[in-house]
Amino acid sequence: MIPLKGEVFAGVLVRWQKQHGRQTLPWQHTGDAYKVWLSEVMLQQTQVTTVLAYYARFLQAYPTVADLAAAPEQEVMQLWAGLGYYTRARNLHACAKQVVARFGGQFPRTVAELESLPGIGQSTAGAIASLAYEVPAPILDGNVKRVFCRYYGVEGYPEQSSIKKNLWAIASDNVPTQQAGIYNQALMDLGATCCVPRNPACSACPLMQSCMALRKGMVGLLPTPKPKKPRPELYFLGLIVEDERGAVWLELQTAKGVWQGLWTTPVAACSSQPEWAELNACVQPWLDDYGLKAFKADIHTQLTQLANQPWLVHELTHRKMHFKVVHVKVPGVWAQCHAVTDKPVPKIVHKLLDQVKVLAQAPVSQQNTLDLG
Ligand code: ADE
Repeated sequence: MIPLKGEVFAGVLVRWQKQHGRQTLPWQHTGDAYKVWLSEVMLQQTQVTTVLAYYARFLQAYPTVADLAAAPEQEVMQLWAGLGYYTRARNLHACAKQVVARFGGQFPRTVAELESLPGIGQSTAGAIASLAYEVPAPILDGNVKRVFCRYYGVEGYPEQSSIKKNLWAIASDNVPTQQAGIYNQALMDLGATCCVPRNPACSACPLMQSCMALRKGMVGLLPTPKPKKPRPELYFLGLIVEDERGAVWLELQTAKGVWQGLWTTPVAACSSQPEWAELNACVQPWLDDYGLKAFKADIHTQLTQLANQPWLVHELTHRKMHFKVVHVKVPGVWAQCHAVTDKPVPKIVHKLLDQVKVLAQAPVSQQNTLDLG
């Protein structure tokens, strides 16, 4: 069966809500926009079970929106303490004042007027208008997005503007002219109890027979998760200084980063297509600092051959690193040289050492040289 739309879709949900939905939440069946608003703002980022106690304390302290508007800001913040997202509390207070000042203490009935108040976005405005006043207004919170994405098989990250627009169009098309409050409550209840993020109870869902995600085996794939940021691609030149015992120069990395606290061979960041001059600038401090001046000619020769050396790729969760290496054997006992087994060394250092061994076997005659100019 293809997915249902409009009044037919809404009818199924309204019947389901009356039988299986939540009926006893304290802000339900009150017709009181102040109570609906207060609960909706609290429920924006907090679970129902947590909200219940805060909701009760707020109503006791401030039975009407005028009481809340007249309260000292600090007292409101104090009552909110523990709910988090404190912008909500500041907006709550500001909104109460505006309802008194602009609307004579009565919450407005239209979505446009409700949306003009602090802390009330389109979905919260739709919830207040429909739940308190039975205005046929759409809602689209996180739970509802999940229900629509799955039921209509909407692919793509729901916060992306084109997808969001599509979801709002679905939400608007489906709102029934009658019982919009029960219908919207049904959507929220379905998302909270049945069409939950993980292991949804599809067999208990009133929409099971016409759900696109279920039919296509995509329930676990929808809604599409937030796209991962592409990993930065980083390029490095490494220097391997090896003594006659096979120990290598290692230095403790103290800077913040993936290698902090580990020991690595000297490495320098470079561009993805480094020219000889850039590579030379990378090695110059090493020649100066590490007493490698005697090996300058050898290192310079290696730099000319690096264009031909493949990048060694090292993939981490949040970055992709590419390495080339130069390698010198320096006789004499080097206090700075260590067996790599003696120090905490990241995997990449072992890879670089392996790379050096492989390169040592490739005849130099096969390697192209860069024009030194
Ligand atoms: N989450 C957001 N609004 C809600 C409501 N009215 N009832 C239950 N959960 C909700």
